[in-house]
Amino acid sequence: MKKNSFYITTPIYYANADLHIGHAFTTLAADTATRYQKALGNEAFFLTGSDEHGQKVEQAAKLRGISPKQHTDEMVEKFISLWKKLDIKYDKFVRTTDDYHAKTVQHVLTLLHEKGHIYEDKYQGWYCTPCERFWTEKEVPEKVCPDCKRPVETIEEKNYFFRMSTFQNQLIEYIKNNPNFIRPESRMNEVLGFLNQPLADLCISRPKKRLSWGIEIPFDRDYVTYVWFDALTNYISAAGYPHDMNHFNKYWPASFHLIGKDILTTHSVYWSTMLMALGLPLPECIFAHGWWVLSGGKMSKSVGNVVDPLTLVDKYGLDSFRFFLFREMVFGADAAFSEESFVYRYNADLANDFGNLLQRILPLVHRYRNGVFHKPQKIHFSQTEEVISIVNSLKSTYFSAMNGLQFHDALAKIWELITRLNKYVDELAPWSLAKAEKTDELDEVFYTIGEGIRIVAHLVNPFMPHKAPEFLRQIGLSETFQPLLSLEWGQLPDATLCRQPEPIFPRIDTPRIENLKTDKNQKAASAETSKVSAEKVEKASVSTAPAAPSSDSSAAEEALIEYEDFMKTHLCVAEVITAEKVEKADKLLKLSVRIGEETRSLVAGIALHYKPEDLIGKQVVMVKNLKPAKIRGVVSHGMILAAGTPDGGLALVTPSKPSVCGVRVK
Ligand code: MSP
Repeated sequence: MKKNSFYITTPIYYANADLHIGHAFTTLAADTATRYQKALGNEAFFLTGSDEHGQKVEQAAKLRGISPKQHTDEMVEKFISLWKKLDIKYDKFVRTTDDYHAKTVQHVLTLLHEKGHIYEDKYQGWYCTPCERFWTEKEVPEKVCPDCKRPVETIEEKNYFFRMSTFQNQLIEYIKNNPNFIRPESRMNEVLGFLNQPLADLCISRPKKRLSWGIEIPFDRDYVTYVWFDALTNYISAAGYPHDMNHFNKYWPASFHLIGKDILTTHSVYWSTMLMALGLPLPECIFAHGWWVLSGGKMSKSVGNVVDPLTLVDKYGLDSFRFFLFREMVFGADAAFSEESFVYRYNADLANDFGNLLQRILPLVHRYRNGVFHKPQKIHFSQTEEVISIVNSLKSTYFSAMNGLQFHDALAKIWELITRLNKYVDELAPWSLAKAEKTDELDEVFYTIGEGIRIVAHLVNPFMPHKAPEFLRQIGLSETFQPLLSLEWGQLPDATLCRQPEPIFPRIDTPRIENLKTDKNQKAASAETSKVSAEKVEKASVSTAPAAPSSDSSAAEEALIEYEDFMKTHLCVAEVITAEKVEKADKLLKLSVRIGEETRSLVAGIALHYKPEDLIGKQVVMVKNLKPAKIRGVVSHGMILAAGTPDGGLALVTPSKPSVCGVRVK
């Protein structure tokens, strides 16, 4: 029976293409969650791997003139070397070409066949070769694949089917009774919506004459297993089912299947019903995270705009890359990636806030107290009490955020403490205490900062396993971390001798403020003009809040425009996905919004009127075709509309009924 053990999985990645930042993100998320669980003292099993069968792999190998296995061997070597470079500490790497895995798949097929859950039938359907899946007549009215939009072809053949439909009601019940089973909630609703329609049975075989690169169906040698049926089984085969039931029983059901939102149906519907048919418990949580998108849209190999994680790691360091991914993305929603936002966050959060706290305090401890942190006998300052109480409440908020994979929340809370610690130094001015020879008070200030840094280093360690120990070393401790549950204020030993500071996050020079996308005219414009236009945009977006409604007389004087002129402005409905304050700018919020398939970042001057958390999920109206500009270091690509209110406030323009994201406002 599963007890305090933690089992987390990533999708197994297709061994036919190079991995990019999206794959790295999922795998780093599993790595971070596992490091956290181990820091809690739990036993943890972290599984990743490669999905190696199917038509795409067979075709890719054929093109290269080598065998599919040779091809996947090479790809897997690349995967493993990437995970090594990202210091991903998985416990097992499963390959669907591994012998034990093939045996488990055949065992599962035999069992389900014997139980009557698999039957033979003639199949006629619409088939998408690139996606390797059949669609029903109703699903392809235009005869193009709903997923990849390429033409589908009609095929009729004998096949084997899994009676997925038998489990439809049971699955609906299960999802309704287990609200944490599919997360976030919006994804659960999406699956329930999908299950509102009658569920068809699943074709789980492919005739060898069409595809031979797969696991043979044990009861019909002319067929191989459908690649998704094969791949999903990895979650139990690698855990030991049925060959190592001790290990399996220790870890199953999985605590988390981490997946991207693109593979939600296969996991929540195909996999769950397969487990039901096998009589095995369902995973505790299927967590579907959002996508990393570029400001222009989706990352795609064919467009050539995929972000290679190693380029960023080589340029900026592994831990800052890890930190950025989890601070920037609200786990579950889409997030926009840009190198500018990376550098901005690095400088603001790592160089300025965290790194600088250490760099400013250590020289003072050396100058005034010979480098020694003395534990205070009594507390003199209310500010110290305040810091201690922040630390005490931080522990529980951190645990609950981390347990629910809300990494961005956990980091935001830690940074609240770091911000308070920096302010604490400013307020209590240790240099003045030293001048006034208030040694006890001075020791209290130094100890509070040293202890604050120690606590922060423990909490960020799952995210920054290389830099966090460096913080401990510089405050004079060994680089070993204590179990998180026993972490308490006051454990920094009396008379700890700190080191001379060495920069941990040196500042990165930010590129000059400039517009990102330039048309022909702008390219010709001087640097000065582009700076001015950025400032203009800043003003324009801040002033989306007019002081008072315009008077009738000014309306009368207004020049009338042609319909065509109005139509040059592309207004559309957008949904707010993330919202947060812009550093050192009271009026500004940074938003990421969804417009159809696209995600955009923009800056809006509404911070005095709206709390970030109240905006999430709100539909707003935005100007879509405004040239992008940089505002306080943040790229803004669009502008949302707001109207002044009689009390001097501001009201966002929103559709009066729920609308569709991306739809044009006319
Ligand atoms: N082989 C299947 C999974 C089988 S699991 C039993 C597969 N592989 S994949 O190589 O296409 O990887 C898909 C996963 O990569 C997504 O679910 C997601 O985790 C990740 N991502 C790919 N692109 C992404 C982004 N741009 N952003 C974030 N993650 C995305 O599907």
